[in-house]
Amino acid sequence: MENNSIELHNKLDSINKKYFIETYGCQMNVYDSELVATQLENSGFEKTENIEIADAIFLNTCAIRDKAEETVHNRLSNLHNLKKKKPGMILGVLGCMAQNLKNELLESKPFVDVILGPDSYRRIPELIQSRTQENNNIVDTKLSKFEVYEDLYPSRNEGINAWISIMRGCDKFCTFCIVPFTRGRERSSSIESIVEEAKKCVAEGFIEITLLGQNVNSYRTPEGAFPELLKEIAVIPGVKRIRYTSPHPQDIDDDLLQVMKDFDNICNHIHLPLQAGADRILKRMNRTYTKVEFLNLVDKIRKYMPDCSLSTDVIVGFPGETDDEFLETLDVIEKVEFNSAFMFKYSSRPGTKASEYTDQIDENIKQTRLESLILLQKEKTLIANKKLVGTVQEVIVEKESKKSEHQWAGRTNGNTWVVFDKSNESIKDIIKVLITDARGITLFGQREN
Ligand code: SAH
Ligand code: SF4
Ligand code: F3S
Repeated sequence: MENNSIELHNKLDSINKKYFIETYGCQMNVYDSELVATQLENSGFEKTENIEIADAIFLNTCAIRDKAEETVHNRLSNLHNLKKKKPGMILGVLGCMAQNLKNELLESKPFVDVILGPDSYRRIPELIQSRTQENNNIVDTKLSKFEVYEDLYPSRNEGINAWISIMRGCDKFCTFCIVPFTRGRERSSSIESIVEEAKKCVAEGFIEITLLGQNVNSYRTPEGAFPELLKEIAVIPGVKRIRYTSPHPQDIDDDLLQVMKDFDNICNHIHLPLQAGADRILKRMNRTYTKVEFLNLVDKIRKYMPDCSLSTDVIVGFPGETDDEFLETLDVIEKVEFNSAFMFKYSSRPGTKASEYTDQIDENIKQTRLESLILLQKEKTLIANKKLVGTVQEVIVEKESKKSEHQWAGRTNGNTWVVFDKSNESIKDIIKVLITDARGITLFGQREN
């Protein structure tokens, strides 16, 4: 009885209270923030975009590189000042850095009230309530073998695209990567629950679905693996486009390519992380493919879908990488002509195998390599985009162009942004655009009637 009245009191307490979430890192974190939002709203909190008036502030953090962590450390120091003015405010750190650095955070930032790892979001309502009773820090970073939040529906940000997390965790253990430690073991949601969620998204007005996982195509359930799931989503009426990220080259097989070829609404775009070009480095990274195997995979993808756009991730300056080995990376970039690439300097992550290698590369060398890689990729992006000039592309009208209120911006099936003059279309319309120019990373065009 007494417990009940305390609970009721606390629930009333949080009515009209406002929360603010800031998200760092990958799309999985964007999705997770939407899950956290639901949890907070169920506890009586309301969303605010104004951090100054928030009663609870959460940072959903990333640990992938040093810089990502540094940004959050700096942000927390700023927020400490805000908290001094508002002692009752709850300050929470969620996500990969919470998982990875809980002890360091507790020591260096004792003003942080809540530290939750990515498998602990279910506990938010309960933690918020006990927080109003005691003033201790609340920490939960237990990773789960099972948690996929199958029954929790995220409070999605409005727009064209809905993110759906289909699997969590990573078992690949690339030697440079912290994700297997921050996200734990691979586990997949059921096909049934994902189909259900996709149907709900369509009913809410989303027309594009992006399936998410740290290792999205390792998805497997007793009812089927990733290609079967894609098929089930593709036949849902109203799903205009399907994307997925991030796959691992090792798990791209004929079944997957065949399904992508068979269904028009599965976008012909694959994010194919290369990481490095030299076999010795790939082996040391534990990437499970050689340069030739990667190039063969690219050929195979293009046999199935000649117009498939490809993007990639590349790391320069992995421990021990020689000049010649870096040239092997450039060689792959030269040969494949990716449409776009995310390029990074290797960042040592304590706890990973590569951080123990003694032949770390000098920062200046990493910087020089990064710059020459970026230069080459810029050329390749432009070449890939120029090939589209003169073609007609299907584009979803997504938003007003940043440069002019008289123009729209939308993406092609292959995930390239196109800017074109407005006529009588509206956001979410799918229209045909004749591509007339390619500059930088953007296409320009005009509507075809
Ligand atoms: N699961 C995804 C990777 C997620 S991390 C995949 O395998 O594709 C996104 C990218 O960050 C990676 O592909 C890699 O290029 C980069 N990255 C990961 N760890 C890094 C590190 N320690 N230093 C620099 N870049 C890193
Ligand atoms: Fe990290 Fe490799 Fe797993 Fe990707 S596949 S999340 S790079 S360990
Ligand atoms: Fe960062 Fe975690 Fe994503 S480390 S990239 S937020 S899985």
